Amino acid sequence: MSAKVDVILGLQWGDEGKGKIVDYLAPQYDIVARFQGGPNAGHTLVFGGKKYVLHTVPSGIFRPELGNVIGNGVVIDPVTLAQELQALDAAGVEWRRRLFVARKAHLILPTHRYLDAASEAAKGKEKIGSTLRGIGPTYMDKTGRNGLRVGDLIHAHFRDKYEQLKAKHLQLLKLYPPVAYDLEAEERRWFESLKWLRTLQIVDSAYLINEALDKGQRVLAEGAQGAMLDIDFGTYPFVTSSNTVSASVCIGLGVSPARIGEVFGIAKAYTTRVGSGPFPTELTDEVGARLQQEGHEFGATTGRPRRCGWLDLVQLRYTAMLNGVTQLVLTKIDVLNSFETIRAATHYRIEGQLTQKVPYDLMDISIEPVWKEFLGWRSSIADVQHYEAFPKELKHYIRAIEEALRVPVTMISTGPERQRLVLAETHSTSSL
Ligand code: GDP
Ligand code: IMO
Ligand code: MG
Repeated sequence: MSAKVDVILGLQWGDEGKGKIVDYLAPQYDIVARFQGGPNAGHTLVFGGKKYVLHTVPSGIFRPELGNVIGNGVVIDPVTLAQELQALDAAGVEWRRRLFVARKAHLILPTHRYLDAASEAAKGKEKIGSTLRGIGPTYMDKTGRNGLRVGDLIHAHFRDKYEQLKAKHLQLLKLYPPVAYDLEAEERRWFESLKWLRTLQIVDSAYLINEALDKGQRVLAEGAQGAMLDIDFGTYPFVTSSNTVSASVCIGLGVSPARIGEVFGIAKAYTTRVGSGPFPTELTDEVGARLQQEGHEFGATTGRPRRCGWLDLVQLRYTAMLNGVTQLVLTKIDVLNSFETIRAATHYRIEGQLTQKVPYDLMDISIEPVWKEFLGWRSSIADVQHYEAFPKELKHYIRAIEEALRVPVTMISTGPERQRLVLAETHSTSSL
């Protein structure tokens, strides 16, 4: 019996809590696979009183017996990967038999990070707010057909290929004002880290995944970033350099669209964004500061404070559509526990006109969110284990989100820990 690939991905600007949900659902699968992005991602898992942050390794790694695949669509920095693997060793996690890396995945070179830094510095106030992990330059080399791939590591001329690409990058760097970067030290670390990468199980991941599906094994694809950071559909140019939507699973793992099953869209109960770029429901007042404080909104990769705002249903309808979301997962609902009132934008008002569509350019126009106000529940929900036990105000908020998106909310995350999750399968969504 052939199985399907289920997908978990972010519906906002990243950091929706994807890692936690992947970790929670992982025991229902045989393989968890990353399909795009790279170490710009920071996925947090909390269990047994400890917190773990993964950047490149899939979030199924802590569950025993589960295969974890870094797919061809991912860009890999051997330095970050080696650090993650050492951290897994320190945590006593057995990963060697269970971690697979696509031969076709592209490598992030030290000069890719150098270029990222120089390009961002040259942009000045216009900077994207990149995580400076070399993501953009690496994907540029991939599409420009210059990149180095994991499979090149065993090539007799690997060092020559490396030097050729590095020379190209050094030429490019001359276009930018100088930035501080210790290339020699970074190169040393990079070549040392290759030792780790070389010992991993390097595979033709498309065969691995499709053969697993043919055998009836269940595969969960783990997205990084969020749909509003998608290179095509996001708030361009303030986006990342990969496609983050569900269609990207096919490209990043080598599976046919017919093999995509459930699409779990993850959304925070409010909105955050780290880095620059438009954010229509952003709150720059004390309410935004309160969301940031209650939600501990600091980046898992860079530690930067995340910008905060209310939920944006216009934005979520757009990304639910782009991804074909079949189930919605609401996270960080507990962060709203103490709020007297809660808001969500149902429309945008642009030059006096109401719209429920995300416009082409959010930068140079003034967007006024049209709010719907909800009463807060003002109580702790930490001990709630069944949907029915939620306060009625919270159920009302969830219901309004379902109705706006016409997608059922099937899981509600009520805290960072693994077990803090309420399934909502029992409540009726038949009228949606
Ligand atoms: P990801 O990139 O989508 O995996 O999300 P991040 O790990 O970058 O950010 C999500 C943050 O919220 C992490 O610190 C999680 O531990 C935390 N988190 C996840 N779910 C919940 C939740 O339901 N409630 C609270 N309070 N925190 C959560
Ligand atoms: P996860 O998987 C939040 C943002 C950066 C910047 C823009 C481009 O943890 O949700 P890049 O480094 O890709 O060139 O940065 O995208 N960004 C993220 N924001 N979560 C992420 O990943 C992100 N990955 C990139 O802040 O604005
Ligand atoms: Mg994150």
